[in-house]
Amino acid sequence: MTEMKVSLGRLPLRSPLIAAAGTVGSVYDFADVDALSEYGAAVAKSVSHEPWPGRPPPRLAPAGGGMLNGIGIQNPGIDAWRSSMPDLSSLPVPVWGSAVGTSAAEYALVAKGLTASGVVAIEVNLSCPNLEEGTMFALDPAAAGRVITAVRDSTDLPVGAKLSPNSEDIVAVARAATEAGADFLVLTNTAWGLGIDLDTRKPTLSGMVGGYSGKPIKPLALRCVWEVAAALDVPIVGCGGISTGEDVIEYFLAGASAVAVGTAHFAEPRVGKRILRQVDAWCRSNRVRELAELTGGAHSE
Ligand SMILES: Cc1cc2nc3c(=O)[nH]c(=O)nc-3n(C[C@H](O)[C@H](O)[C@H](O)COP(=O)(O)O)c2cc1C
Repeated sequence: MTEMKVSLGRLPLRSPLIAAAGTVGSVYDFADVDALSEYGAAVAKSVSHEPWPGRPPPRLAPAGGGMLNGIGIQNPGIDAWRSSMPDLSSLPVPVWGSAVGTSAAEYALVAKGLTASGVVAIEVNLSCPNLEEGTMFALDPAAAGRVITAVRDSTDLPVGAKLSPNSEDIVAVARAATEAGADFLVLTNTAWGLGIDLDTRKPTLSGMVGGYSGKPIKPLALRCVWEVAAALDVPIVGCGGISTGEDVIEYFLAGASAVAVGTAHFAEPRVGKRILRQVDAWCRSNRVRELAELTGGAHSE
């Protein structure tokens, strides 16, 4: 068996696969599916300081071989979230919390609550509107840096910054997040997309533009991993369109040290088992003893 243990700086992972935020519910409600033991971590749905109601239906729509979602990050707020969660150490996988907010101060409050709940790391979902400046945090290096500084100051846990493929300059945002103290980066969240329903002649989602995910976004996220890995020395979690072992290998060669699987869970909840088998088979037939040795391999001359 190939050595699958990897690490994101000071954060060790027993497996290179992470279950992406929002695609395995609140993690505990997915535990019965019997798939989480294959993962190095599972990320809970993003949570804010106050409850967010989310958008009305329709919030999900198939589109061009992938999926559009416009859920609006519905969540009960950090206090209710904490009381709804079981003892996290009883779950078959280490759990990461995912923080959202509309200001740096709100992100910091959520990070404090998540830390107290027993998560092992905090992913900062920067794909949120910045109410103070109007644009999404992930699109603005300075705003992204301010959020990561605030989260960094509120927790001793490893902090990951989750960026957007829609950034005009992904390296600038990645650099700002890293300089502000992010231990690792997650590249990437969904890409903006739109579908039109020919019966209603209206957008398929109530929020019109939504987050596009699944197989078709792999080249977009892979390009982000490639560019950031070439420019910065920071551990990267590749995320976007992963559904096979070969996808995982591509992300590692582009510069990832771990990967997150999202939309593939909707069609195949136990997809992680199959992907790990495929990674192992590829590594064996290519005489790779440790998966980690592939990281960044496509950059070398
Ligand atoms: C239904 C759905 C809900 C999601 N919810 C969240 C979320 O709460 N927080 C977050 O950071 N990302 C969320 N995402 C984005 C995924 O975690 C992932 O970054 C993205 O879908 C790209 O990976 P994929 O192509 O493997 O799905 C969500 C994605 C989907 C499809």
